Order: sequence, then C-alpha cells, then structure tokens
Amino acid sequence: MTKRIAVYPGSFDPIHNGHLDIIERCRPMFDEVVVAVLMNEEKKPLFSVEERIEAIRGLVGDTCRVESFSGLLVHFMDRVGGSIVVRGLRAVSDFEYELQMALMNRRLNGRIETVFLMPKEDYIYLSSRLVKEVFALGGNLQGLVPEPVLARLEQRLRPAVRA
Ligand code: PNS
Repeated sequence: MTKRIAVYPGSFDPIHNGHLDIIERCRPMFDEVVVAVLMNEEKKPLFSVEERIEAIRGLVGDTCRVESFSGLLVHFMDRVGGSIVVRGLRAVSDFEYELQMALMNRRLNGRIETVFLMPKEDYIYLSSRLVKEVFALGGNLQGLVPEPVLARLEQRLRPAVRA
C-alpha cells in the first residue's frame, strides 16, 4: 500500500505551541509527516532556515522529518512523495488566504489535497509575528512558546539585557 505522506509547510519563524499542537494532531493521521520550512531569506526572517530547522528537530525528535524547501510547495511535495498538505486554521480570517493556497496547489497538482486542522483554543490567536513582537517588548510568553525557543528568542532579541 502507498505510504500516506503529509507535508506541514510554513515559515516557522519561530515555531510555537500552536504549530506543535498541529504536528501532534496530524502525526497519527498519516504514515509520515514532513515539516517543511520555507527558505525565505529575502523576507528577512529573525532566524535562519538552519536555526529554525534545528529548533524544530529539537522539539519533534524523530516523530517527523524536518526539511527546508524553496520554490513551489507542489514541487517539494513531488520530491518527498507527499500527497497531503496540512495547514492549521485558526480563525475565519485565515480562511481566505488558506483557501487560495489550497486551490492553487490543487490546480498545480491535482493529486494534492489540503487538510485543515484547528489548534487547541489556547493557541487560536497565536502567530510567529505576535510571538516576536510580544517577546521584543518584554511580554510573557510562558505556555505559548516552548522553553528552547524562548531561549533562542532571548539570545536574538535581548542580548544586551543578558550581558
Ligand atoms: O507559515 P506561512 O508563512 O503562513 O507559510 C506559507 C507557506 C510556506 C505555506 C507558503 O508561502 C508556501 O507554500 N510557499 C511556497 C511557494 C509556493 O508554493 N507558493 C504558491 C502557493 S499556492
């Protein structure tokens, strides 16, 4: 039987508990889950793709593969043999963008389906953008971001405070 390989793509700059919640939810649904980290250096991410991958690997262990990709997601899907894209859907506001992507990906490759999963309610309002902003301004992110990621944020965003 063909393996059901799902790909969970994103920027993950940085990964937070909402992402981890989606990974945990989709892991039992498929034979293999590949977390695909977008190489988007032109968007000036806070963490390099290598740092993002290292952080995710440290958290997910060997429960899933973690790889980087550039170019079209559908081409990456072909390379890893994936047929399902997993995306988290937080609020109605996510829907339009997600619908566009899902339908375009299906148009580009009719073999690909997108599956949307809802994260735990606690993480509905969580985004990597807010994580960076709140952390930089001194807000408390306990329970929303894993400890190793908080440590990385500390090093990157508050180096002067530590010195
Ligand atoms: O975490 P993000 O930034 O919401 O993830 C967006 C991502 C990486 C899923 C999306 O930008 C993507 O798939 N980029 C790869 C380029 C591509 O395939 N574009 C066409 C999508 S229809």
